[in-house]
Amino acid sequence: MAKKSKRLEIPYFLARKTCSPTIPKDMQTPNNSMEFIERLKLELEDLREFLRGLPLNISDYKVGDFGCEWGYTTLSLMLALNAAECVGIDTFTGKDHSPSSLEQAQQGLDNVKAKILAMPKNSQEDGLIRETQNLLRKGRFPVFKQDDIVQSNSLPKNLDFAFCKLVLRNIHEGAYGNSIKGNQAVELAVKNIATSTKHGGLVCVVEKNVAGSVDIVPFLEAHLTFLRICHIRRGDIGTNGRTSSSTSYIVYAYKKP
Ligand SMILES: C[S@@+](CC[C@H](N)C(=O)[O-])C[C@H]1O[C@@H](n2cnc3c(N)ncnc32)[C@H](O)[C@@H]1O
Repeated sequence: MAKKSKRLEIPYFLARKTCSPTIPKDMQTPNNSMEFIERLKLELEDLREFLRGLPLNISDYKVGDFGCEWGYTTLSLMLALNAAECVGIDTFTGKDHSPSSLEQAQQGLDNVKAKILAMPKNSQEDGLIRETQNLLRKGRFPVFKQDDIVQSNSLPKNLDFAFCKLVLRNIHEGAYGNSIKGNQAVELAVKNIATSTKHGGLVCVVEKNVAGSVDIVPFLEAHLTFLRICHIRRGDIGTNGRTSSSTSYIVYAYKKP
């Protein structure tokens, strides 16, 4: 059974004192499309908690998922926001952790798409499958772009919503093969994410809440206007659903002025 999430909005001056970890929980390779869908359900639950209460009031969003890996969050964003376009950006180098590649990730999503399209009518009872089928009927599905958040000059433009989960502190640590690391790399990454977002658009960054790591708030504030920070605890996701452990996340929300 899914663990109850605890959501607590905390004053900004307290939130900025907290730090976070850098070592990511490895994502599981989606072995088959049903496995992907089962995991997607849990990822979507988490995402809805992260986004709850944000001023998400336009339709046909253009969304970017920075550091998307296998695309669980990318497809979740598309579903949660009923987005018109959603692009997942990742280096897909697979260094350090998951042996990801653009082709593997794309294949994973294509399999899910094919599986869902082939599902019989009674599978419509499953809300997630129904929602995904609705997306597909509108011709909407995420696309992946292989790119580097730190070093690229060709990231998407005019995003209404930019999402970046468990990436910035990895960049700071030089994980996932990042050759530029430390403050300079985070500064560049945040600047690029902000540049990709249109004026008035939102940027949401999620990191684990663990003491002892770099505080990313000053980097975000150099380019964006603060909206809110909150702490959210979620049950961890394993190969067979939620595990007995949980993780506390910090969710940073900013607006591009
Ligand atoms: C811990 S995973 C997070 C995946 C996803 N955001 C999620 O929460 O499910 C970190 C991802 O960031 C990607 N990444 C790290 N540095 C990057 C960079 N400079 N540009 C693009 N992607 C990067 C890695 O390849 C990896 O897929």
